Amino acid sequence: MPQRVFFVTSEVYPFSKSGGLGDVMGALPEAMEKSGRPSAVISPYYGRISTGNVRVRRTVSDLHVGYPWAPITADVYETEYHGVPLYFIDRGEYFDRRYYYNDPYKGDYFDNAERFIFFCRAAIALMEHLGTSPSIVHAHDWQAALLPAYIHFMRPREPFWTNTGTVFTIHNVAFQGRFSSRLFESCGLPSEAWDINGVEFFGDFNLLKGGIVYADAVTTVSPSYAREILTEKYGYGLDGTLRQRELHLYGVLNGADYTVWNPEDDPYLPCRYSVKDLSGKQKCKEHLISELGLDPALKDRPLLGFIGRMRGQKGIDLLNAIIPDLVRMDVGIVALGEGKPEHEAKITELMEQYRGRVAAVIGYTEDLAHRMQAGSDIFLMPSRYEPCGLTQMYALRYGTLPIATAAGGLRDTIDPWPGENSTGFIFTKSEAGELLKSVREAVNFWTDNPAGRLKMIRRAMRREFTWDRACREYMDIYRNIRLRL
Ligand code: ADP
Ligand code: GLC
Repeated sequence: MPQRVFFVTSEVYPFSKSGGLGDVMGALPEAMEKSGRPSAVISPYYGRISTGNVRVRRTVSDLHVGYPWAPITADVYETEYHGVPLYFIDRGEYFDRRYYYNDPYKGDYFDNAERFIFFCRAAIALMEHLGTSPSIVHAHDWQAALLPAYIHFMRPREPFWTNTGTVFTIHNVAFQGRFSSRLFESCGLPSEAWDINGVEFFGDFNLLKGGIVYADAVTTVSPSYAREILTEKYGYGLDGTLRQRELHLYGVLNGADYTVWNPEDDPYLPCRYSVKDLSGKQKCKEHLISELGLDPALKDRPLLGFIGRMRGQKGIDLLNAIIPDLVRMDVGIVALGEGKPEHEAKITELMEQYRGRVAAVIGYTEDLAHRMQAGSDIFLMPSRYEPCGLTQMYALRYGTLPIATAAGGLRDTIDPWPGENSTGFIFTKSEAGELLKSVREAVNFWTDNPAGRLKMIRRAMRREFTWDRACREYMDIYRNIRLRL
């Protein structure tokens, strides 16, 4: 087996996905493999995993993991997806559950620390079992954040790990995996890691911090967000720790997987379209209007779409606050998402109040997300912060003009109107009034300037955020690390 880059992640599309992390992990390892870097992925084997037509086989039974306290084992299921080996860590009591991390009605699973410490330890055990030292272990988010810490402490002692570099990618610094200090004792790190310059965080055990402190390089998913997290406002308490790692902190903009998100051959759409022939887009819009039971007259008015987690981060409350004004502007609104019950309830209530004008689908539906990207004219992304954001990149490809806050990856992917390269509309302050102003501007542009609109749509559809570019940037980072080892 060649030396590989091992991506360790709690989600990998199409097998598991709750948001952008799944999409990224479904695309980056394949792009890496195609760029000539042998890669592999390790992820949990969730009960709700969808393997579709892909054959998954159990290849390791009773892998000794040794966590927590008593010796414990994992089984490993394996498959190859688009040329990349994928290893799923199976232990039913931890992963065979309805949700990934939390039950929407009961909150986070009480044993999340135990589940993901187990996952990290099992990943270590598996890589050792496979027998070839990885060239790089590239861990993602708090669920995999202990890997750089384990490897940091094993490297001087265990020859297997001596030449392995580690990269840790933060997809959202607000989700840290912060747990009681009691759990530290069982995680298998030496006591010196319990330190303000280690995993200790205001008396708690902070897994994300472990990734930041001990990885050879830390990355996040856009250049703007890499700068933002160094500030108190966006650092969620870890800005100081991140500033200490500033020399080894990189912002690598995500790519979009255009084999999955492309209106020219999207299997979920009622009809396809392209930058050369946009007629199918209007048909997708009419289909969506009828699928969601909206007023057919909306076919000639702008249709505004929202897809995302209904949480404060995504600014769903800002959207909810202006829906009555939007209805008065004679536009349609379609929203798909799930999240905080209060936001879900509010938009459902607005849908009942403005039947035919507002449609909200509460839930998680991959195929509808595609039809909404295609059928909307304008894509709303009023995020309070956005590490990268993939949905606005998909919207651009589908010719759906984004309206977004000037935050993180949104700033890095949308060229604001007015301007000759403009692909969307940007507003600066996360306030309902600002969002409304921006929507008004976009709607006026959409209705009053059909020629300008068409040009902007075409420009948007031609934008490319490729994984090849991101891969090259990651490979440079890997190379630098290996020179330092
Ligand atoms: P985040 O990771 O912060 O949720 P991203 O924009 O990076 O935001 O990625 C979100 C991904 O999840 C996209 O693929 C989007 O289409 C998908 N998504 C979000 N909510 C839903 C939903 N309710 N149903 C289907 N897909 C969804
Ligand atoms: C996180 C971020 C999102 C990003 C995604 C993939 O979920 O919230 O902005 O696009 O990760 O990196």
